[in-house]
Amino acid sequence: MGSIANKPHALIIPAPAQGHINPFLKLAKILHSKGFQITFVNTEFNHRRLLKSQGSDALNGLPSFSFETIPDGLPPPQNTDATQDVPSLCKSVDETCLNPFRRLLTKLNDSSSPVTCIVADVLMGFTLDAAMEFDILEIVVWTSGVGSFICLHEYPNLLQKGLMPTPPKESSVLIDGYLDTVIESVPTMSGIRVKDMVSFLRNTNPGDEFMIHFLCLQVERAKRASAIVFNTFYELDGHHIDMLASIFPPCYEIGPLNLLEKRIVDESVAIASLQSNLWKEEHECLEWLETKPPSSVIYVNFGSITVMTHEHLVEFCWGLANCNYSFLWIVRPDLVAGNSAVLPSEFLAEINGRGMLVSWCPQEQVLNHPSIGGFLTHSGWNSTIESISGGVPMICWPFFGDQQTNCWSCCNEYEVAMEIDNDVKRDEVAKLVIELMNGERGDKLRKNAIHFKNEAEKACVSPFGSSINDLEKVIGMLQTSTK
Ligand code: UDX
Repeated sequence: MGSIANKPHALIIPAPAQGHINPFLKLAKILHSKGFQITFVNTEFNHRRLLKSQGSDALNGLPSFSFETIPDGLPPPQNTDATQDVPSLCKSVDETCLNPFRRLLTKLNDSSSPVTCIVADVLMGFTLDAAMEFDILEIVVWTSGVGSFICLHEYPNLLQKGLMPTPPKESSVLIDGYLDTVIESVPTMSGIRVKDMVSFLRNTNPGDEFMIHFLCLQVERAKRASAIVFNTFYELDGHHIDMLASIFPPCYEIGPLNLLEKRIVDESVAIASLQSNLWKEEHECLEWLETKPPSSVIYVNFGSITVMTHEHLVEFCWGLANCNYSFLWIVRPDLVAGNSAVLPSEFLAEINGRGMLVSWCPQEQVLNHPSIGGFLTHSGWNSTIESISGGVPMICWPFFGDQQTNCWSCCNEYEVAMEIDNDVKRDEVAKLVIELMNGERGDKLRKNAIHFKNEAEKACVSPFGSSINDLEKVIGMLQTSTK
């Protein structure tokens, strides 16, 4: 494969959160398998967590694959094992990371193998300034669904043309009417309501203003990249990508990255076992799943950022207890606002044997386990695409950000999911779980999910698959900068 000095050297930089580090690490492993030297850049905070969860032996001494860190600019947090506050992190990264990033590029460029290309998160838009200064090719990656990218791109136009309703400031009745308003003019997203758009665009909370400005700015900046990459596949989202093609630099779909990683990364090489979970995975849930019949377990996981009220936690508890299905529920220690997640003791007594509770699991393995029949999810994009590529239908309880739009796509476009009310109640949880696991609607959603699983496999596995094809184009582009 040649010496390090001859290899193209890709600097890979995700936004500093679990849902971004995961797809980026997969892409880094794929590029490494295709002959790239990789420098993977984390924030100091996340890298410390990664060292703790994975062990330093797993992260160091890998051939042609190394890690670097930059500070995120935030003061040291009280809880070093919890997800950082999203708006504060976005603000700090955008305002403080360019200089440390410049210093890192200078250091690497003074070494025997200078950086030849940058692969950055769209949310790390400051990297495009550095790429221009150092004259390095950069492509950007949108780790969420394409729909949320379109919402953010359209928002300033909608606002300017008066097509986005203005948020009412008074009663909740008015707010409900506002949230249900259909916005007719979002291209390729006909029928989308205010409440389905990226949650910050509602502009009803004090912090929304900053997030709108930040996110719309990053999407606009993406126009300066040489290409934009999405973690999806043509058969699922081609209609969106075709529309974006006339506005943005070349857009490529190279997902689901979890399938592409399996297809491309040789399991016997050292980097294959490299993992990016910031919490330690509890593998005993896989053994527990082995004891359950096929399609009999509902999997419940709200990702790395969702924080719910204690009241909602209790409604989920009793909904799951009352549905009479076995369930595997991942309860992060920081899942409940302002408190550690404490489950009612009557609930724990009631579910004995039927429910398995752990604080973090190997999700991809869980979703591919034959015992799993459905997924109650917060609709983070990674969870969504991993569920689709496992052929598992979903119940969506979106929390914030892009999750509302991912939920809309799953329920209305792909028809692989149903939505549960934001103010969740136990009876509805039980009713929807029963419907998903054993009802007519659940059957239809499952068939659609299996259809997309098959399409995803073709895209990533067959020699002329659409994602394989797009990946080759991206690799070609990244290699040109070395020739
Ligand atoms: C965040 C945002 O919330 C999400 O909306 C956005 O699309 C990406 O960034 P997060 O909330 O963590 O992500 O959700 P998700 O996108 O689903 O990513 C979670 C990742 O962690 C997935 O890759 C999942 O496989 C992994 N995971 C989660 C585990 O491996 N084990 C767990 O127990 C939970």
